[in-house]
Amino acid sequence: MRLGRGSLHESVDGRVVLVTGASSGIGRATAIRLAKAGADVVLVSRSEDKLETLRSEIETDGGKACVHAADLADANATAELVDDVRASHSHVDILVNNAGHSIRRSIEHSYDRFHDFERTIDVNYLGPVRLVLGLLPGMREQGRGHILNVSSLGVLFSAPRFSAYLGSKSAFDAFLRCIAPEVRDDGVAVTNVYMPLVHTPMVEATRVYRLLPGLTPDQAGDRICQAIVDRPRSVAPVLGRLGRIAYDTVPAVFDGLLHLVYKLSEDSAAARGEDADELEAPAFAKGILRRIGRLTGRAA
Ligand SMILES: NC(=O)c1ccc[n+]([C@@H]2O[C@H](COP(=O)([O-])OP(=O)(O)OC[C@H]3O[C@@H](n4cnc5c(N)ncnc54)[C@H](OP(=O)(O)O)[C@@H]3O)[C@@H](O)[C@H]2O)c1
Repeated sequence: MRLGRGSLHESVDGRVVLVTGASSGIGRATAIRLAKAGADVVLVSRSEDKLETLRSEIETDGGKACVHAADLADANATAELVDDVRASHSHVDILVNNAGHSIRRSIEHSYDRFHDFERTIDVNYLGPVRLVLGLLPGMREQGRGHILNVSSLGVLFSAPRFSAYLGSKSAFDAFLRCIAPEVRDDGVAVTNVYMPLVHTPMVEATRVYRLLPGLTPDQAGDRICQAIVDRPRSVAPVLGRLGRIAYDTVPAVFDGLLHLVYKLSEDSAAARGEDADELEAPAFAKGILRRIGRLTGRAA
């Protein structure tokens, strides 16, 4: 890992770091790296058994961790989580808001699914806001703190079929951008990490993503740890920054591109509400060729 202002060890040794979504994927990889660097890691997610397994792995490796299982979509459970963490640790130095729920479904299959919008906003926005409201006062009081958000590249240029997911991710992104200038005098930094595709259980459920290039959970964890060291306002791949500039300066062209992507892809069987399994690679490729044929007016 590239070193910025200092090493990860210097940034987190002896510090309390709360990682949500620590039971799987990016959160798990991040928690392991933080514990190796000397952090006292508070592991949060719903699956207590998976968190306990991770805790014992960390402790066997000489690290320090504790488990606080909670459903962030549940207001009472999140309030209880904040109370428990305050009671056991008195303060949290770094909050990694990583737990999340993704839904990929076009709007035409969402008309009767208002609950998709409710469940994404609960986990991706309201839960994280509750955590920040509970932990930020302690950070400001001690004059030190860092809030990181594992956001998505899609927040920068709104990808089709992700209206529920990216609507909720964008809400938390905006919330953090609003509070950042309010808290900086108190030594609290805010970082949005715009993550590209990462091969985790979240996306592996959609088989076509297995064909696309992406980061490993460890590589994603490295980006978060680097952000903990550097404390930048945001972390985004060059492609994401260029995409955002194109989106803002030539929206019609960019919209046309996204329209093409939409036309060349399709909702998964599950997103369409069908039982059929998702397309395997050869069928997926044939599907794309068929759609290109349709778009160019040729029989496929
Ligand atoms: N993978 C990607 O390509 C990608 C790209 C951009 C951004 N992201 C973001 O990265 C973050 C981590 O995702 P991942 O890819 O590592 O997915 P993952 O492997 O599916 O992990 C998701 C984590 O969130 C936790 N979680 C889900 N609902 C929760 C709830 N109601 N309360 C508490 N914890 C909950 C899960 O734990 P339990 O099931 O145990 O509760 C799990 O630990 C998410 O915020 C996602 O939006 C991912």
